[in-house]
Amino acid sequence: MKLFSIGKLKRKMLGPEEASPLLAKPEKFEHSEDNSRGLSSRWLTWGGVLRFVIYWLVVVFVIQHFTGWASKVVDAVVGLPKDPRKAAKRILAKAPVIDGHIDLPILVRGLYANNASAFDLNGELPQHVDIPRLKQGQVGGFFWSAYAACPDWIGHDDGPDFLNSTWRVRDTLEQIDISKILIEKYSDTFQLALTTHDIYHAIRHGKIASMIGIEGAHQLGNSIAVLRQIFTLGARYVTLTHTCHNAFADSCGTLPSKWGGLSPLGYSLINEMNRIGMLVDLSHTSDDTARQALKHSKAPVIWSHSSARAVHTHERNVPDDILSMVGIGENKTDAVVMVNFAPDFVADPGEATVQAVADHIEHIAKVAGKKHVGLGSDFDGIPSTPTGLEDVSKYPELIAELLVRNWTRSDIEGLTNKNLLRVMKGAENVAHKLQKQGVEPAYEYYDKRTDLGRRQEL
Ligand SMILES: *[C@@H]1O[C@H](CO)[C@@H](O)[C@H](O)[C@H]1NC(C)=O
Ligand SMILES: *[C@@H]1O[C@H](CO)[C@@H](O)[C@H](O)[C@H]1NC(C)=O
Ligand SMILES: *[C@@H]1O[C@H](CO)[C@@H](O)[C@H](O)[C@H]1NC(C)=O
Ligand SMILES: *[C@@H]1O[C@H](CO)[C@@H](O)[C@H](O)[C@H]1NC(C)=O
Ligand SMILES: [Zn+2]
Repeated sequence: MKLFSIGKLKRKMLGPEEASPLLAKPEKFEHSEDNSRGLSSRWLTWGGVLRFVIYWLVVVFVIQHFTGWASKVVDAVVGLPKDPRKAAKRILAKAPVIDGHIDLPILVRGLYANNASAFDLNGELPQHVDIPRLKQGQVGGFFWSAYAACPDWIGHDDGPDFLNSTWRVRDTLEQIDISKILIEKYSDTFQLALTTHDIYHAIRHGKIASMIGIEGAHQLGNSIAVLRQIFTLGARYVTLTHTCHNAFADSCGTLPSKWGGLSPLGYSLINEMNRIGMLVDLSHTSDDTARQALKHSKAPVIWSHSSARAVHTHERNVPDDILSMVGIGENKTDAVVMVNFAPDFVADPGEATVQAVADHIEHIAKVAGKKHVGLGSDFDGIPSTPTGLEDVSKYPELIAELLVRNWTRSDIEGLTNKNLLRVMKGAENVAHKLQKQGVEPAYEYYDKRTDLGRRQEL
């Protein structure tokens, strides 16, 4: 959700490798006078090398597993610290937060015209996100939102069938571009992650795994081909809508409904997302869109930044009947609902607190299960924040609140990252399977277009 306008923000701020010694040795024997001795020595030497490699692999394996195992034993014997804040920090050290939705890229566009030299992410940035606070908040990864506004947000009329030309595909590419520039510029901190494997790898090396999400299929130029190309550029989720309806689906933000949920092209879009491994994100969609997409998707889905409607009535929150479609098993779809911190989604005016956000988490956990809830703060995309959750440095406060409510360590590890990783891995597996089956790319195109498949116009 973008609650600030860019205009408002602008006004507010003004040598060649040496041969390996391991390889050099046998080569020496090749020139040996005694050929038979040379051969057996070479064999012995290769055996030695092999033993050497296996020895070190075993040592590394034992050290890695022993330290993991030893710290588990220490935790079990000594237990977590009594102080929930200290306990939260201990848990997050092993299971850092992966946030489903951070709007840093649009802030950088709005304040700095995407000039990465115009600010220092290692310093203090306006709003809610910079590197010092990400580290304080024990963040292990987040989706950088590559967002371009809906027509109604920028006074543009797409026309009733979304056929007016726009710059949104360009703007989306610019937002992917600035995200990658920043990930590269601050590569001591960030690492681009395209797969769950990349995320584990980044976290293991103390980096913040950086994934890219596209906040609305209105950014796809009505075209499934654009979806495929945005995937190759690194995006790993597409929210089916933002606050506007588009050629694929209805949004919760515009009435009346245009498609009654998904359009025919929307079903094809989901097929293609499943096939390539792009996560289907149902935040911002209408309830009918969400229900239809949940039923149709072969892969697990996400809500990258939505809370619980039963806790606080808001169209952007997920109602219980949809939460009850989420799960593992017959007639259910695996998913993770990543809770949004926007005060007006969370509680009545003035009442949004860290406790109120925890209420949303607990409600989703109660209805869908603890394996189906995550965090999607919407930091940098919300105009204000709950008391106690003012920016990305504050996630430990929320974890401390859940510890007070008797959440276990493993429940919390699910919330902070394991649930999202399971869902993402599930989508990767489905894509792998469909590709192995030889499912073809989706060739469907928007039937309102008149520029394709018209021989007589060549
Ligand atoms: C980018 O920002 C830097 C620092 O403020 C400034 O010196 C430079 O001129 C800017 N570049 C452009 C193209 O505006
Ligand atoms: C968009 O298209 C509609 C007709 O479909 C037209 O009335 C409107 O002026 C167009 N808007 C822009 C910004 O081009
Ligand atoms: C799943 O849906 C089918 C068809 O609607 C129904 O017959 C079946 O009982 C459902 N199973 C469960 C476990 O709800
Ligand atoms: C947490 O567990 C303790 C000990 O079992 C219990 O006294 C306390 O009431 C529980 N707190 C909540 C919020 O359930
Ligand atoms: Zn949003």
